[in-house]
Amino acid sequence: MFADHARKRSDTILRVVNSDGREPSRVFNVRWAVAVASLGLAALTGCSSEEDSQGAAAPADASAESSPAVDGGVDESPRPETSANDGQNEPVPDAMDDARSEVTPDARGEDVGRTDAAEAGSPSADATPDARDVDAGSGGADGATDGNPRDGGDGPASDGARPIDTMAGAALTRGHHMGTAVQTALLDSATEPLFTTVLTTHYDLLVAEYQMKWGTTQATRGVFNFAPGDQIVAFASRHGMMVKGHTLVWHQSLPAWVTALAPTEVGAVLDAQIAAVVGHWKGQLYAWDVVNEAITDDGAGYRSSIWFQHLGAAFIERSFRAARAADPSVQLLYNDYGAEALSAKSNRVYTLVRDLKNAGVPIDGVGLQFHVNGAAPPPLGDVATNLDRLIALGLTVNFSEIDIRVADVPGTQAEKLARQRTLYHDIIALCAARPRCHSASTWGITDKHTWIDMQYGAGHMPLPFDVNYAAKPAVAGVIDAWLGK
Ligand code: XIL
Repeated sequence: MFADHARKRSDTILRVVNSDGREPSRVFNVRWAVAVASLGLAALTGCSSEEDSQGAAAPADASAESSPAVDGGVDESPRPETSANDGQNEPVPDAMDDARSEVTPDARGEDVGRTDAAEAGSPSADATPDARDVDAGSGGADGATDGNPRDGGDGPASDGARPIDTMAGAALTRGHHMGTAVQTALLDSATEPLFTTVLTTHYDLLVAEYQMKWGTTQATRGVFNFAPGDQIVAFASRHGMMVKGHTLVWHQSLPAWVTALAPTEVGAVLDAQIAAVVGHWKGQLYAWDVVNEAITDDGAGYRSSIWFQHLGAAFIERSFRAARAADPSVQLLYNDYGAEALSAKSNRVYTLVRDLKNAGVPIDGVGLQFHVNGAAPPPLGDVATNLDRLIALGLTVNFSEIDIRVADVPGTQAEKLARQRTLYHDIIALCAARPRCHSASTWGITDKHTWIDMQYGAGHMPLPFDVNYAAKPAVAGVIDAWLGK
C-alpha cells in the first residue's frame, strides 16, 4: 500500500510503524508488537520540534468556517471568533452570525449540574442492543466483523491485517475503530503523499470534515452536489475503511437560501434534504451524525437554530425518523461537544437521547466530540460515568472529533507533547475499555491541517502527527490505550 514516492518520504512514519525500518508487516503479529511496545514506542516516534505550519500550503479545499460555540466544554479560555472561510466548497452562511450570538463563553467549562447516581442509572452496560448496534465493539480479538459492508467488509480495516503497532490495528484488537476527519484535496494528493500514507496506515474510519454538510450537498436550492462526499466514500472503499456521514442537521453550514426560508417551508425542506442525502449514500455508510450540536452550552435547552425556531424541539425526532426512512440500516447518532464529562450540558444530552429512545425514535448512539484544552481536560472519572449511563440506555458511544490543544500546557515543547500523549492515552482508554464504544476519531491527522488554527490560532499542535507527518508521542499513547496498556 505504500507508493514508492511516499515511502521515500515516510521514514518518520515508519519509525512508529516498524522499529527496524522494514516495510510494516500486513500480518497481525501480537508477539512482535508486544516486543516493540515493550521497547517503548515513544522512543521510536519521530517528533519534530519545529512548527512550520505557516509555510505549509493549505489544501485547496481547506475550510475554515467558524464553529463559534464549539469547544470541549472544558475550556474556559475565550474562543476567537473567525469568519474566514478558505474553503472552496463550503460557503459561509449568513446564519452563522446569528449562531455566533448564541455563544455563552462563560458557561463553558462550568462543572455544574452533576447527575446523581439514581439518574445516571446502572453503569453496568447491561443494555440489550438492537440488531443495528451489534457492530459496535463486536470485532473480537482478531478484529473480525459480521461481514457488514458498512463495517469494512473483508477489507483490510476489519480482517485483522492491520499491524497492531498502528492506531487502527491496535483499535481492531478489541473490535474498535480509529477514525479521522478528512478533506478531499488531500486524498491521494500527489504533492502531499504523506497524508494518504499516514491515513491509510493508522486509520480505518473516515468522516467528511464538511463535504457531506448542507453547505456542500445543496448549496443551491434543488442542485445537489455529492461529488466530494463520493470521493471520500470511494477512497474508503478502496482502502477497506468505513465512513461516517457528518452531518445532516446543524446550525452551521447552512446556505443563505436555507436561512431565508419561509417558516412554513422549513419542515419540508429539512425532510427533503435528509431524504436526498441519506438516500444518496444508502448502504454505504456505517452511521450518520443526524443532529449536531442542538443543545446550548449551559444545557438549559435547545440552540436557537432555524430548526428549533420553526419546528421546535420536534425537529430532532423528525430528523431521526426521516433518516431512518431513507436508510433502514445505517446507525443514527446524536453528536455534540462539551458533553463529555458530567455537567448540565451532558445531563441534557443524556435526557434528550434517553427520551428519544424511550419514545421509540430510531437513535443508535451518541458522539462526544472531545475538542479538549490539554490545560483543562474533562475529569476522566466523570467521562467514564457519563459513557456508562449512555451505554446503559442501549446506545453506542463514539469519540467523534478528538483534538487536544497543548499551547496552554505549561512546560517545554517535550513536556507539552508528553502531556498530550497522556491525555490521548487516557481518553482513548475509556473507549477501549467499553465494547459499546464504537470508535475514536481525531478531527484531522496532522498539525499541518487543523481547524484549531482557525479557531485558536497556531501553536496548539492538537493532532497525533506533526506538521511534517512525523508521529508525535500521542500516537504511541493511542496505540497503548487500544492495546490496554
Ligand atoms: C468544522 C470543520 O473542521 C471546518 O472545516 C468547517 O468549515 C466547519 O466545521 N464540530 C463539528 C464539526 O461537528 O463539523 C466542525 O468541523 C468542528 C466542530
